[in-house]
Amino acid sequence: MKFQGTQNYVATDDLMLAVNAASMLKRPLLIKGEPGTGKTMLAEEVAQALDMPLMQWHIKSTTKAQQGLYEYDAVSRLRDSQIAGAENSEKVKDVQNYILKGVLWQAFTAPKPVVLLIDEIDKADIEFPNDLLREIDRMEFYVYETRELIRAVHRPLVFITSNNEKELPDAFLRRCFFHYIKFPDADTMKAIVGVHFPALKKNLLGAALKSFYDVRNLPGLKKKPSTSELLDWLKLLVAEDISADVLQSKDDKVVVPPLLGALLKNEQDVSLFEKLVFMQKHNR
Ligand SMILES: Nc1ncnc2c1ncn2[C@@H]1O[C@H](COP(=O)(O)OP(=O)(O)OP(=O)(O)O)[C@@H](O)[C@H]1O
Ligand SMILES: [Mg+2]
Repeated sequence: MKFQGTQNYVATDDLMLAVNAASMLKRPLLIKGEPGTGKTMLAEEVAQALDMPLMQWHIKSTTKAQQGLYEYDAVSRLRDSQIAGAENSEKVKDVQNYILKGVLWQAFTAPKPVVLLIDEIDKADIEFPNDLLREIDRMEFYVYETRELIRAVHRPLVFITSNNEKELPDAFLRRCFFHYIKFPDADTMKAIVGVHFPALKKNLLGAALKSFYDVRNLPGLKKKPSTSELLDWLKLLVAEDISADVLQSKDDKVVVPPLLGALLKNEQDVSLFEKLVFMQKHNR
């Protein structure tokens, strides 16, 4: 079982190596990288390539570790106990009926090995990763209400993504294999664009990429545009039938590209970029 990229996803050698290393070590793969560089998509594509079901757990600021294991629905049980009827009383007696399985439980007990994506772990509070140490390490947890131990039948292939909004605890890091998705170089980016726009004209691609890297490399940007922004922008260029000439000036100077709003997402960045273009034009 080796991951080698897919038709829809361009994986660099070091990324493939990381996926396979994590799978061999039987440790979660912790993936960091700028927003829009394919962290979430990686798990989806690995699942598809290895023909494994994908289970996703999208983390929010309010998510608790326990929710991934199970939740005990005491409110429903109380309500049912107040409704008379033989059928209900049977149901109320058995606490099993009020245990809701979380994503981890489902992944642990799935009939075949699954890919488990824990997406954006840095959104949760600081205790969240610590609360999952044992589950991730031993692949088991205890259900106090029913006094049963849930153990993984097959070890899931775990992907954890983070946008670095919070530091992760050392004990958690120790249990992961780490990979940082570097921002794609020009050749990799060409391959990624090729996957999404196989019929894109060469000269438009060349001009658009140059323009994109001009914008991206501007020092002092608050939010650099990334892969997904480039793809959005190209989609618009194609839809609006914009030609390559509009994106470049004859003397090879930076121009303000059309539909800049797809690339730059705040007013300071836009005015910074316009200033640069203005200064270049006047040769200052
Ligand atoms: N290597 C790649 N091959 C093909 N498409 C890619 C690649 N990297 C990024 N993309 C494109 O960029 C889009 C964004 O990717 P994704 O949602 O996985 O980013 P992310 O890193 O999870 O971002 P965020 O941190 O904002 O969640 C994808 O839908 C895909 O179209
Ligand atoms: Mg994501």
